Amino acid sequence: MTKPSGLHFIRPAIQAMVGYTPGEQPKDGGYIKLNTNENAYPPSAGVRAAISGCATDDVRLYPDPMADALRDAAAARYDLSRQHILGGNGSDELLAIIVRACIDPGDRVAFPYPTYSLYDTLIDIAGGEAVRVPFSEDFGLPGQLAEAAARVTLVCNPNAPSGTFIAVDQLAGLSTQVAGLLVVDEAYVDFASDSALRLVRERPNVVVLRTLSKSFSLAGMRVGLAFGPPAVIAELAKVKDSYNLSRVSIAAGVAALADYDVMQEHVRRVRATRARLTERLRALGYEVPPSQANFVLARRRGTDQRAVYEALKRRRILVRYFAVPELADALRITVGTDEEIDALLAALAEIRT
Ligand SMILES: Cc1ncc(COP(=O)(O)O)c(C=O)c1O
Repeated sequence: MTKPSGLHFIRPAIQAMVGYTPGEQPKDGGYIKLNTNENAYPPSAGVRAAISGCATDDVRLYPDPMADALRDAAAARYDLSRQHILGGNGSDELLAIIVRACIDPGDRVAFPYPTYSLYDTLIDIAGGEAVRVPFSEDFGLPGQLAEAAARVTLVCNPNAPSGTFIAVDQLAGLSTQVAGLLVVDEAYVDFASDSALRLVRERPNVVVLRTLSKSFSLAGMRVGLAFGPPAVIAELAKVKDSYNLSRVSIAAGVAALADYDVMQEHVRRVRATRARLTERLRALGYEVPPSQANFVLARRRGTDQRAVYEALKRRRILVRYFAVPELADALRITVGTDEEIDALLAALAEIRT
């Protein structure tokens, strides 16, 4: 029984839930910030110019409700049509749109676990049933995922927080086995070696989500992209906020896609630093699954890492500590610049001695 809270007008499902806790965003500067997987490098000069160019009287006018300039830029970049694409206020909004469009109270949403914790929150809001299917020990695709007979199956690939990647062939196979929609959350895919985007053309039940927050250095602009069969995209568009992308977000997104080579150069640097970070963490005794993202998971089996997280924070280095039993022996570390990673490694070596 729900205890009386005096807030009888709030849905019981909402009263019962905790709410999503975003990663720490410190108000005071001076931190080496390796906790929320932002890009270590700035957006292109073209993006900055596009943002500045929005400071005109046109801001009194609503933006294009469908953000067609962004859809067209993405269609050209990824060789699809405008009808295959929906823009979102970050890919978080696109996840919310999918849950809103597909999930009635009691409906199942399945996903390999552990993964991006927002999935649980969105399912709780909808009153759906989250079916967490444990990853194998090496974060391989769990065979039982399709058995959940879920209306929506979510696969984060590369997965957060492990950074590990599931081969696209396996996802293609999964798309034929699941009962409903397969959503591949590719927030980190530009740092990886492959993408499931081709499945959007081949399969009627696959939606791929991308974000410009990570590889394109635009976390502050909130630009996400959903790719799917036109019939699915048209349904999703019905439940979005009317003007879900601002004029500034649309302009920044278009410019970022035009400056694709800038993104690729930053990805190249992040990958090089990731390889060095992985090797050095392993030398320090951490278990580090092979990462195809812009972060790594550093694990010391059975040893809670809270004290290490706190010691790093005292040194003004922020990493992500997860206060859940399955991940308390791990730290998730964003791949920063070489200098930032050197400072982290020096601090870790000191803390451990
Ligand atoms: C797996 C995953 N999906 C989606 C997002 C959301 O990205 P955004 O809303 O900034 O596009 C994140 C952000 O951290 C993420 O880790």
